[in-house]
Amino acid sequence: MSEKQHRPTTTDAGIPVASDEHSLSIGPDGPLVLNDHYLIEQMAMFNRERIPERQPHAKGGGAFGTFEVTEDVSAYTRAAVFQPKVETEMLARFSTVAGERGSPDTWRDPRGFALKFYTSEGNFDLVGNNTPVFFMRDPMKFQHFIRSQKRRAGNNLRDHDMQWDFWTLSPESAHQVTWLMGDRGIPRSWRHMNGYSSHTYQWINASGERFWVKYHFITDQGIECLTQAEADRLAGEDGDYHQRDLYDHLESGDHPSWTLKVQIMPFDEAKTYRFNPFDLTKVWPHGDYPLHEVGRMTLNRNVTDYHTEIEQAAFEPNNLVPGTGLSPDKMLLARGFSYSDAHRARLGANYRQIPVNQPHVEVHSYSKDGVGRTQNVTDPVYAPNSYGGPVADPALTDDGGQWAADGEMVRAAYTLRADDDDFGQAGTLVRDVLDDAARDRLVSNIVGHLSDGVTDKVLARAFDYWRSVDQRLGDRVEAGVREQQGS
Ligand code: NDP
Ligand code: HEM
Repeated sequence: MSEKQHRPTTTDAGIPVASDEHSLSIGPDGPLVLNDHYLIEQMAMFNRERIPERQPHAKGGGAFGTFEVTEDVSAYTRAAVFQPKVETEMLARFSTVAGERGSPDTWRDPRGFALKFYTSEGNFDLVGNNTPVFFMRDPMKFQHFIRSQKRRAGNNLRDHDMQWDFWTLSPESAHQVTWLMGDRGIPRSWRHMNGYSSHTYQWINASGERFWVKYHFITDQGIECLTQAEADRLAGEDGDYHQRDLYDHLESGDHPSWTLKVQIMPFDEAKTYRFNPFDLTKVWPHGDYPLHEVGRMTLNRNVTDYHTEIEQAAFEPNNLVPGTGLSPDKMLLARGFSYSDAHRARLGANYRQIPVNQPHVEVHSYSKDGVGRTQNVTDPVYAPNSYGGPVADPALTDDGGQWAADGEMVRAAYTLRADDDDFGQAGTLVRDVLDDAARDRLVSNIVGHLSDGVTDKVLARAFDYWRSVDQRLGDRVEAGVREQQGS
C-alpha cells in the first residue's frame, strides 16, 4: 500500500469527524450517546458491507484489459468489436464454480472465464469456462447439478457421493467429467488456462449472412496445470493462490494475453452435421472446423476496489451486440434469462448503473426509477412519443440472432443424429489426446475422488460410467478403488 498525504476523515456526507478512535460518551467512563452519528454510521455501514455472493462462481478475481483485432473476420460478422484493428477495453473475471467466496482457488473444478467488452455498440459479454463443454445439455438440470456440487442440507458438507450420484445418473456429463478429472481440472494459474465460449453462438455479417461460431481464447502463456498433490498443499498454504498470482503479475508489469480463435460453421451445415452442433456436451473436432485467428486479449490493469469492480461486476450472456447472436443451444437460451435475473436479485434492478457495468456509450433506454438509480431520467418517459424521445431502429440490431423454428410444444431431449451419444468424445479425449502419463494421472484422480465417501451403489454405476467412456479406463478405475478399499 502506498503512503497517502494527510486528509481529514469525514462522514459519508463529507463532514469532518472529531475522532477515528473515541466514541462520544458522558465523561470518559460514562455511557454512549445516540447523537454520536459518526459511531452509528460506522456500525451501520459495517453491518451492510457484505452482499450476497454469486450462487455459483462465488470465488474469483479479475482485471481490466484490452482486446485488439489482428485479423480480418468482417466476412463473418459486422460486430464493431471484431472489425480489423479495433481495440476495445474489457474486463475479465476468473472463478471456481462450486466453492464459496473464501474457498481455496486450487480445488478441482471448472474455472469461469467471464469477459465484458465495452464496445462502441454497447456491452458485449462472453461468459465462458476453461473447458469447451459442459455437464448437461438441458437447463432444467443445471440447478440440480450445482446443488449436487455444493453442500448437503443436513451436515453442511460437500459430499462426493452426491456428486457422483448426479454425474452417473446424468451420462451426458461424461465428457466434462473426464476433462475435469484430467490435468486441466486444476490450472496452475488463471494465466495458464484457455477460455472457451463452450456454446455455439451466431455471427451475422454486413450482408445479413449468418454463421455458427465457437470462441476459443488460447493462452499465450501456455497450458500449465497443478497435480492433485500440489493443489491440495496450496489449498492449505494459500487459498488465494490464483488471485495472488494474477494480481502480482499485473503489478510487476507482466501482462498475460490470450489469442482469440474461432471455429466457424456455415449456417446451413448445422442442419445436416453428423451430431447436433448446439449440444453443449460436445466440441466441434478441429479436423472438421479449424481455428481462425481473430485477435488478442491482454490484461494490463488491476482493479483498485475489488468490491465495486469485481464483486459487483455483472456478466450476462444476453449482452449481445449487432453482428452476434445466440443459437438453439437450450442451455444458452436459458442463460439469456438467468444472469440478469441473478443480478437484479444480488445487486438490484439498476445494476447496470454501477460503473463497472456501465457501457462506454450513451444509454437511451426507457428504464426509470427503482432502487439504486443514480443517472437522471429525462422526459419523455414513454414511447411512442411526439417529444423527441429515443426511437428504435431495426437496422441497428440483429436481435440476438435468428433461426427458424417450428413444431409441437414438447418436453423432450434433442432429436438424435447419427453421431449423437454421451461417451464418444470423452473416449476420444482419453484414447487419442492424453498420453500414458496423463492417462495415469486421470485414473489416479478419479480413484482418489471415488475413494472419498462414495457409497457402493453409486460406485457400481461409476465403474460402468467409466467403462462406457473407455473399457480399459473403467477397469483400471475399479481396480484402483478396490485396492484403496483393501488397504
Ligand atoms: P485435436 O487433436 O485437434 O485437439 C485436441 C485438443 O485437446 C487440443 O485442443 C488440445 O489442446 C486439447 N487437450 C490436450 N490435452 C488435453 C487435456 N489433458 N485435457 C483436455 N484437453 C486437452 O482433436 P479434436 O478437435 O478432434 O478433439 C479431440 C478431443 O479433444 C475432443 O473429444 C475433446 O475431448 C478434446 N478437445 C477438443 C477441442 C475442440 O474444440 N475440438 C478443444 C479442447 C479439447 P491444446 O492444443 O491446448 O493442447
Ligand atoms: C455464474 C446460471 C451455465 C459460466 C452464474 C450465475 C448464475 C448462473 C445464476 C451467477 C451470476 C451472478 O450472480 O453474477 C447458469 C445457468 C446455466 C449456466 C442457469 C445453465 C442453464 C453456465 C455455462 C457456463 C457458465 C455453460 C460456461 C460456458 C458461468 C460463469 C459465471 C457464472 C463464468 C461467473 C460469472 C462471473 O464471473 O461473474 N451462472 N449458468 N455457466 N456462470 Fe453460469
